[in-house]
Amino acid sequence: MKISVLGTGYVGLVTGASFASLGHDVICVDIDQNKINKINDGKSPFFEPKLDDLLLTVVKNKKLKATNNLNDALEHSELTFIAVGTPSTPAGIDLAQIKSAAKMVGTYLKTSNRYHVVVVKSTVVPGTTESIIKEELETSSGKKIGAFGLCMNPEFLREGCAVDDFLNPDRIVIGSLDEKSKSIMNQLYSGFSCPVVNTNPTNAEFIKYSTNTLLATLISFSNEIATLCENIPGADADTVMKGLYLDQRLTTIDSNKIRKNPSIVSYLYPGPGYGGSCFPKDLFALRLHAKNLNINTPLLDSVHEVNETRPKKAVQLLEKKLGNLTGKTIAVLGLAFKQDTDDVRMSPSIAIIKLLLDRGANVKAYDPLVHSLSPETFAKNIQYTNEISECLKGANAACIITPWKEFKDADWNFLISNMSQPILFDMRNILIQNNLSKNIDLIRIGKI
Ligand code: UGA
Repeated sequence: MKISVLGTGYVGLVTGASFASLGHDVICVDIDQNKINKINDGKSPFFEPKLDDLLLTVVKNKKLKATNNLNDALEHSELTFIAVGTPSTPAGIDLAQIKSAAKMVGTYLKTSNRYHVVVVKSTVVPGTTESIIKEELETSSGKKIGAFGLCMNPEFLREGCAVDDFLNPDRIVIGSLDEKSKSIMNQLYSGFSCPVVNTNPTNAEFIKYSTNTLLATLISFSNEIATLCENIPGADADTVMKGLYLDQRLTTIDSNKIRKNPSIVSYLYPGPGYGGSCFPKDLFALRLHAKNLNINTPLLDSVHEVNETRPKKAVQLLEKKLGNLTGKTIAVLGLAFKQDTDDVRMSPSIAIIKLLLDRGANVKAYDPLVHSLSPETFAKNIQYTNEISECLKGANAACIITPWKEFKDADWNFLISNMSQPILFDMRNILIQNNLSKNIDLIRIGKI
């Protein structure tokens, strides 16, 4: 099929590159010329594992190109994904970009005689496609749905493994308003063997929100268990959770393989709280949407509250061991909100660093991919380092905040000698305790 994709963020570009790798002809549209040049050189403008390889192949094979010429892209495609940003504002999600994209596509549709399918990929609260986006398209095109198609097709891509998630989906959700666009979308995804949920756009939007808010709920649940364990002598969240994972209603796989075989259990790992551009934003948007409908969401409100307190609880655990943090040097390991990405949006590391600086600690930081945070994020300086050992030099404690493999595999028995005090805080419980020397004073999540 001939596909255009508006927006080359991680959702748009992964979608475009993956469809191109499956043999479709894809044109990606963006307003940023630097991004366009990079993509046309076969390089991703941001870090996402496997995306560079995929792009290089599809650009070379002329299956994908990038342009800033929207009309040309629409003219040479039969189906357009809108994958622009829907950033969070205190008033809810900002629909300016998606409205503007719908208006431009509608203006093109006015003069076109062909049937064209418009697909919303961006995450929008339930009801948005059938109201705001449909209206924008119908007004600017002067046509009604039926003369063109409108679908909502949410994405379930995790940063850091977005290409694999796209090519091996667990389900495809297609919310359509007319039979013709439904049939075209089903044809587009016909090569995938997973279940396809055909529904209306509002349910499709809701499936996305209910998935992300459930996953956030699981994380906050496990963090609440960890908080309790941190206050009950003899309790250890790691053991408690491992026992929980084995319930076959949650998973049918061996607990030792859990991290390799994602299941619902892979969201039941306590830590410093969830971050990223999706869970915090989607939870906030759905709660606000409910509030506007005069509906209370006590469960989702608590999920948010538990998450907000996590960084503070982590710093308190550190204080319990170190005492007053003023003048102490803390090595922060990991700035990205999770492993395998350079994304720091809503990263728990940022919240923790802020708390450490507020308490007068000196902060050194190391992340395999993120080499600094924007100066606006912090009034005071952080000392950025290029490797773990440099970060640990002279530190009173080291905190693993992002579960990078490099931190899990590091030779801690050797590295710890760089520190002033051998205190290691594993905020993701990724280290294998038995492999650590007795000299290491280990703090774990969910244990006194
Ligand atoms: C999430 C969803 O998993 C994707 O399905 C969805 O498409 C995406 O949001 C989106 O809406 O675009 P992502 O934010 O990339 O993906 O990251 P996740 O791997 O889901 O992790 C989110 C956060 O939860 C991270 O901070 C992670 O460290 C944390 N987490 C995860 C925990 O603290 N504990 C866990 O057990 C699991």
